Amino acid sequence: MSHKITRKMDLNSADFYVEVEAPLVAERFKAGNFTILRSNPQGERIPMSIMKAEDGKIAMFIKKLGKTSMELYKTLDTFENVIGPMGNPIDIKKYGNVVVASDLVCGHAENYAICEALSAVEGNHVISYQTYPTADEVYPDEVLADKVCDEYHLTTEDGSRGEEGHYIDLLEERLEKGEKIDVIFAGGALPNLQELGEMTKAYNVPTIVTVRQIMVDASGMCGACRVFIDGEMKLACIDGPMFDAHKVDWESALRRPNMFVEKETVATKLCKETGRC
Ligand SMILES: Cc1cc2nc3c(=O)[nH]c(=O)nc-3n(C[C@H](O)[C@H](O)[C@H](O)COP(=O)(O)OP(=O)(O)OC[C@H]3O[C@@H](n4cnc5c(N)ncnc54)[C@H](O)[C@@H]3O)c2cc1C
Ligand code: FES
Repeated sequence: MSHKITRKMDLNSADFYVEVEAPLVAERFKAGNFTILRSNPQGERIPMSIMKAEDGKIAMFIKKLGKTSMELYKTLDTFENVIGPMGNPIDIKKYGNVVVASDLVCGHAENYAICEALSAVEGNHVISYQTYPTADEVYPDEVLADKVCDEYHLTTEDGSRGEEGHYIDLLEERLEKGEKIDVIFAGGALPNLQELGEMTKAYNVPTIVTVRQIMVDASGMCGACRVFIDGEMKLACIDGPMFDAHKVDWESALRRPNMFVEKETVATKLCKETGRC
């Protein structure tokens, strides 16, 4: 069964928005789940975070990175498969003061979904931080998480829009002042999630982060997405993708996503030569 893409829109020069018909995924989606996309019967399976699900459709934010994402941006109007929901959703409950933070495409999608789910729970004060490098990279207003949280902070690293600085530094300032934050959920650039974990450990703030790893089958069979949590091997596709940042073996989690760079570069080059990317 193929899935019709109902909307594509540029978010900035590198990232785009895609909405696709996927009623079975949409009706069971909970914040923190992801989906697996396949563009054609021979295509690779690529994992994507889900920003929102409504009216039988799911929405995603995608970066033009390599073969599949560039082909999707340029030529595709259907997906062969949209599988899921995959992975474990977050625990949707009362936490108190919740921070949801992001600095990259996948994290921004999760930010929206998590804010929407947790702000619906009485007793939560949901604070969203979305960090972009500069004003030029900020997504259009209609997809920012400001309308699904209680307190919103748009930040740019060069200060060209919103507050100046990365969310890690701005959060540290709040914690240093003694503000109470009960839990942090964060997604985005892996090295920054490591840094966030190191920072919040000192303040004893529980910090749950998305550990993005290469996924092949995404069903726990191949071991490609293995991560080490507190010394124990876990599979990001079925045990995650969100884990306690204070327990992740960051050295191996940061190394593994670059395993196939040479093959990916060749695939992208061939795709460009055929005009599909
Ligand atoms: C749980 C999860 C959620 C994600 N959410 C998003 C999202 O919301 N938006 C987004 O743009 N990207 C997201 N990604 C990353 C996305 O899957 C890769 O960018 C995509 O697979 C790239 O494919 P490509 O063919 O365009 O690029 P390629 O040239 O094949 O790969 C470029 C880079 O993408 C990563 N990657 C490649 N294949 C995979 C794979 N099968 N599984 C995981 N990572 C891979 C690697 O770091 C690789 O070096 C997510 C990954 C995971 C694991
Ligand atoms: S992707 Fe194969 S075990 Fe997770």
